[in-house]
Amino acid sequence: MVWLRHLAINDLRNIRDVSLDLQSGLNVFCGRNAQGKTSLLEAVGLLARGRSFRTEDSPSLIRRGAGGLRTRGEVARDDRSNALEVELEPGRRQFRVDGRDVVPREYQGRLEVVVYSTDRLRVIRGSMRDRRQFLDRSAGALWPSYRADVRAFERALTQRNAALREQSSDLDIWTERFVDLGARLRERRAAYAARLSTALRDGFRPQDEDYRVTLRPEVPATASEMRQALAGELRALTARERASGRTLAGPHRDTVMMLLNGRDAALEASSGQARSLLLALVLATLEVYREETGHTAVALLDDLDSELDHDRTRALCAEVSGRAQTLVTSAHPGWAESLRDQGSVFRVSEGEVRCA
Ligand SMILES: Nc1ncnc2c1ncn2[C@@H]1O[C@H](COP(=O)(O)OP(=O)(O)O)[C@@H](O)[C@H]1O
Ligand SMILES: [Mg+2]
Repeated sequence: MVWLRHLAINDLRNIRDVSLDLQSGLNVFCGRNAQGKTSLLEAVGLLARGRSFRTEDSPSLIRRGAGGLRTRGEVARDDRSNALEVELEPGRRQFRVDGRDVVPREYQGRLEVVVYSTDRLRVIRGSMRDRRQFLDRSAGALWPSYRADVRAFERALTQRNAALREQSSDLDIWTERFVDLGARLRERRAAYAARLSTALRDGFRPQDEDYRVTLRPEVPATASEMRQALAGELRALTARERASGRTLAGPHRDTVMMLLNGRDAALEASSGQARSLLLALVLATLEVYREETGHTAVALLDDLDSELDHDRTRALCAEVSGRAQTLVTSAHPGWAESLRDQGSVFRVSEGEVRCA
């Protein structure tokens, strides 16, 4: 079990100075709109990953008028405990472990979060890129080698695109490299999607709904077939690639589909169904993470009760917090109160957090 014992936040959005002790199970944060609930979860996300789960624009997290922000946490893992710290100023990011400055590579992997939030609905209903990114980031959190494969692939893509634009004589060399790395990334992505699909099948979902993650094109069985397939796709696109100066097939263009009862959830899911599916996906991610690393990730569930059935979300909180530390927010005092027997309830108001 990995969990945050203590959390301290300075100058993150509307939070000036907050310091709290958390439970290893369920922690409920309740408050009206625009009081700082999402900001609090963002602080935990930042502590885990060094970036926001909501925006690519990290400096916008710094409280207006402050020069920088800081988030610190005491993370318990097995019988050890580490102090993690992320400090952010415009153009500068500093990671610390037990007070010592460390590089991102050394920092990573000490705390992982999975996030459910309205913004994250784009994983279900947003662009294909959002879904590809979801898979690659979740798998990257599990395996540093997956992250390295993604980076190597992206470099090869940039270089092949440049070779296409410049009609360079090196194009064949870059194509070969792109095919090697692209086929490899496809294979790993497909393997991760299959793990998620299995966890989705066995996980928490409404009885009459079946969820799955599928990829297109389908990935052949052997590595050499995979390379051949991708090389074939590129050959068929030669003329169009020359004209556009871009690589038009590969993992950066592949289809990632979330299926709800066999149909594309991006097109067909109702708002409530999309939320249920996202939640199931979050739990599946948590499960695969636990199976693979033997450790738990912290679940951050923002506005969990909006548009989802209250009894179901209460049951869900019991289920998740029995398996991982869970931080959940709600704007409804009655709902938060009904969870008091399961964990701690905090009140969030104007950027301050108190035990309720
Ligand atoms: N950089 C910032 N500096 C100061 N306040 C900010 C900043 N960014 C956002 N806010 C404010 O922080 C408040 C809390 O936002 P949020 O955490 O999303 O609230 P909640 O989730 O409780 O509805 C909002 O009023 C928002 O306007
Ligand atoms: Mg919010």
